[in-house]
Amino acid sequence: MADQGLTVLGICGSLRKGSYNAALMRLAEELKPQGMTLKIAEIGSIPLYNEDVRAQGFPPPVETLRQQIKAADALLFACPEYNYSMSGVLKNAIDWASRPPEQPFAGKPIAIMGAGAGMAGTARAQAHLRQSCVFLDMHPLNKPEVLIGAAHTKFDANGNLNDDTAKGLIRDLLANLDRFTRQLRAK
Ligand SMILES: Cc1cc2nc3c(=O)[nH]c(=O)nc-3n(C[C@H](O)[C@H](O)[C@H](O)COP(=O)(O)O)c2cc1C
Repeated sequence: MADQGLTVLGICGSLRKGSYNAALMRLAEELKPQGMTLKIAEIGSIPLYNEDVRAQGFPPPVETLRQQIKAADALLFACPEYNYSMSGVLKNAIDWASRPPEQPFAGKPIAIMGAGAGMAGTARAQAHLRQSCVFLDMHPLNKPEVLIGAAHTKFDANGNLNDDTAKGLIRDLLANLDRFTRQLRAK
């Protein structure tokens, strides 16, 4: 039987036009294994979480995100670091999408990558994101860690990453996500 390629939903925690994390997502499109489809979620129009609004139903951009998560075989997060944690934009999108009924994150294999100005390359933000993913019953891939520090020295003005080691890590991350997703499915 022909191999069914996996569909991965990319969720980027930065809305900035020149975002390094959005650049990583574009790079993931180039470096993904053959057969994998990468779709990018649009989270910029999701309102701030408000339980009163939620009680009236999910706003359309949240409903779209929830459907995209449900339909995906796996998720790929590009995680900026804001004040030692994930960005509010990313946390807000996760909070909205996670609400019942049938929270769509449960059981999803996920991979995380990140680029930031600091030397830790978003390690602290990724740890917080990983913690939320565990609470929501996702299956975070452990290795490799993609931690791109001092991002301003590694991307050119067009958002191209000039770091072959980091590119190799992104390639390995996506190959491992592919393998991990198939392993979880086979269980
Ligand atoms: C509110 C705010 C807080 C930040 N806090 C951190 C931080 O804790 N660690 C870090 O490495 N960079 C921090 N930065 C710098 C970001 O790494 C940098 O703006 C980066 O470009 C954000 O990702 P992006 O390029 O994908 O938008 C912060 C930036 C902002 C706007």
